Amino acid sequence: MDNFRFHVPTDIRFGKDRLESELPQVLDTFGKTVLLVYGGGSIKKNGLYDQIVTLLKNNQNTLVELSGVEPNPRIETVRRGVELCRENQVDVILAVGGGSTIDCSKVIAVGIYSDQDAWDIVLGRQGYQGKGLPIVTILTLAATGSEMNAGAVISNMATNQKLGTSGPAMVPKVSFLDPQNTYTVPASQTAAGSADILSHLIESYFNVTEATDVQDFVSEGLMRSVIKHCPVALKEPENYDARANLMWASSIALNGLTRDGKHGVWSCHPMEHELSAFYDITHGVGLAILTPRWMAHVLSEQTVAKFAQYAKNVWGINETDSMKAAKQAIQATYDYFQACGIPMTLPEVGIDDEKFAEMAKQAVAHSMIKTAAFVPLDEAAVEAIYRDCLTESSYV
Ligand code: NZQ
Ligand code: ZN
Repeated sequence: MDNFRFHVPTDIRFGKDRLESELPQVLDTFGKTVLLVYGGGSIKKNGLYDQIVTLLKNNQNTLVELSGVEPNPRIETVRRGVELCRENQVDVILAVGGGSTIDCSKVIAVGIYSDQDAWDIVLGRQGYQGKGLPIVTILTLAATGSEMNAGAVISNMATNQKLGTSGPAMVPKVSFLDPQNTYTVPASQTAAGSADILSHLIESYFNVTEATDVQDFVSEGLMRSVIKHCPVALKEPENYDARANLMWASSIALNGLTRDGKHGVWSCHPMEHELSAFYDITHGVGLAILTPRWMAHVLSEQTVAKFAQYAKNVWGINETDSMKAAKQAIQATYDYFQACGIPMTLPEVGIDDEKFAEMAKQAVAHSMIKTAAFVPLDEAAVEAIYRDCLTESSYV
């Protein structure tokens, strides 16, 4: 195991109906002027918006609003948020939504104190050291883990770039995780969000660092939890326990717990970010399509042992031949996503081979996938994986 620092200062307020008694007091620790950030209107439909506005009015807060944050949040929206914060001398940002709303809020929070344009902050990528406004989140979709980490992913559609950035000031101060707020998440987003959680676990699980049993066994348990509870949430959207397990899994799958102590970079995320940058697809769907193809591509005599462990401990496959077990596990992964209703080929989400070469080039340019991935992938390898996503696949 490598050296690491694990420091996750987000104050998590998990469970039912905590906003009424806790939100005003939480916001008051930071100030009275609040920028309320939200997406395309789901919180207006399900009543959360009215609840928050009433609470803040009764608490004599000054409310400034930034609405319409896009899935795959755009840099233009971040810039609008920075202007609103400056014009209104905002004290605290309240992000209500999924990863897109929270990520947008994070870059607004640091953008206000910077002389740089917000896109230059994103281009600086990891380890942004500037200060930021405090961020409080109310999570409405279990997926990204943004509610409890330092990362933000922003899109610039003019340049076909979707890039991650991070910094300590982007970590939310407080996050409210009420599983009831995810009851209205549509089936397609529930499945995509669960695929994203699984991908965060898989990306760190398949890693070359030796002797990381704690991280790996925690990861296997989290994967089993998601695999169990996503189908329940799809069938019964208001099943509290299913929504609760998905929500908590989302936060701890990407807060460092299963990743710290390992080195190297991820594989499917850099490839997916190019699909979203060029075609604006749902992040979790892109990951579900790519993951089994990537697994099949990197399976070899050198990697088979980890795949056999994944087969046994995640999918309960009792095959003694490691290579057969590995292939069955890849098939199980594919079948699982498909059974959750996720389209499993690129043409089903409107992507053909026209931009494969360009996207492969960008995936390599924007990450260290070629040198530091579990199995290094050059442009030809990435393109081959995209190509495998054109048609349905079978591994056994
Ligand atoms: O915009 P609204 O109207 O709110 O609707 C959203 C949106 O259409 C809807 N939704 C969210 N909560 C809902 C709901 N609909 C009904 N009821 C609710 N309770 O779901 C749609 C998708 O929302 P979005 O926030 O885009 O989804 P997600 O949480 O999956 O976030 C995806 C973004 O996060 C990035 C992705 O790349 C993508 O841009 N990621 C962020 C990461 C991070 N910060 O650590 C890591 C991830 O790997 C990922 O890259
Ligand atoms: Zn992700």
